[in-house]
Amino acid sequence: MEGVSDWPFRLWFSQTSAPAFMSTPFLRATDTYPKHIPEDFAPELNRYVMPYDLIPQVMASRPEDFVRAARLFLEAGAKWVDLNCGCPSPNPVSGGAGSSLLKTPRTFLDFVEEIAAQLPPDSFSVKMRTGFDDTGVFAAAIEGLKHLPLRQLTVHGRTRKDRYDGEARWDLIQHARDALPYPVVASGDVVSWATWQNKKSQHPSIKNVIIGRGALRNPWIFAELRTGEPLTISRRTLVLALASFAQIMELSYNHPEKLDELVKSGVFSGTCAADEVLWRNLWSHLNDDEPRNLSVERFAFGRTKMIWNSLRSSLPAEFFDPTLLRAKTLGEFLSALDQRGDPSFSVAHTPAWDWLFTSSRKKNAVTTDLEVSPALPS
Ligand SMILES: Cc1cc2nc3c(=O)[nH]c(=O)nc-3n(C[C@H](O)[C@H](O)[C@H](O)COP(=O)(O)O)c2cc1C
Repeated sequence: MEGVSDWPFRLWFSQTSAPAFMSTPFLRATDTYPKHIPEDFAPELNRYVMPYDLIPQVMASRPEDFVRAARLFLEAGAKWVDLNCGCPSPNPVSGGAGSSLLKTPRTFLDFVEEIAAQLPPDSFSVKMRTGFDDTGVFAAAIEGLKHLPLRQLTVHGRTRKDRYDGEARWDLIQHARDALPYPVVASGDVVSWATWQNKKSQHPSIKNVIIGRGALRNPWIFAELRTGEPLTISRRTLVLALASFAQIMELSYNHPEKLDELVKSGVFSGTCAADEVLWRNLWSHLNDDEPRNLSVERFAFGRTKMIWNSLRSSLPAEFFDPTLLRAKTLGEFLSALDQRGDPSFSVAHTPAWDWLFTSSRKKNAVTTDLEVSPALPS
């Protein structure tokens, strides 16, 4: 996820929930960039052994630019590299990259065929939306992909025009799944074990899913998917987990050598999940076993608040209090957090707050006051 799933986030996420693989945000390849893999873009590939696979994602306007960047990642040890044909942002779209490749089936297929001619079979995958302005291109695009040696295809069940509005079209994802001889991964709207079960019951041939926004709302979601139950955590665990995220961010920007040493020593080789003792150990490693150091810089704290903004919607109502978002320092934020909510609670998707995440939030909000003073869920 662009702006989210960078190296420090992936490190932290491996501790909350341990997904089988994670993807980098897209790297935009051009005729001159990159000449080598940017430092800290994908350190897992050549520097560390991590408990998850890393899939680098590349966006490009020309197949040769994708191929050049993909070769760098493959040489560094990536199992395969993903082509972004889904990004809706105006900048890549006006430059002929991202979802603009879906304007016609021919544009899309020429691009992918050229890549397939240059790279070994199974060394690349494609992530696409269901179309640009509408889904008219989708069937022809899938038909054309049948004979190409992709590692897998991921389909976000919305067009570029949809952005994030409406429901993802899992019927179209199922069409791709039924048509193609390689794995098809669904993307769109899975926010809990219950939503995954519901999607699977309606589209039984779909076996694989990636989770985007649901992972921000509930960083423990993969634990929930493994057990089929919302995860119960203690308030102290929540505080320690968020403090650890801020500190990992801080180390990655201001003390990368220290983070490097910790990763190499195996501090991140397991998963803390809901275990308060494990989070406390991680926190003390991140702070050199010194008393709690809460002075992270604004940027690290800003990223922590971004996570919090989503996560709070999966917590009991007390945590939704907007004053927490107004905290000015990490210390202020954590001590306010430490005083709220029951000592332990489950992290579970709260449909009443889904409007927070839509691009038409006003239309979906239950009342206009909700933003200031949220209604408590029943
Ligand atoms: C903040 C954010 C950043 C994203 N960045 C990327 C990206 O870099 N590459 C990509 O293929 N998809 C990206 N996506 C799209 C997601 O991978 C996913 O397809 C989409 O959010 C729908 O799935 P969800 O309902 O699980 O969020 C991003 C989504 C969000 C919310």
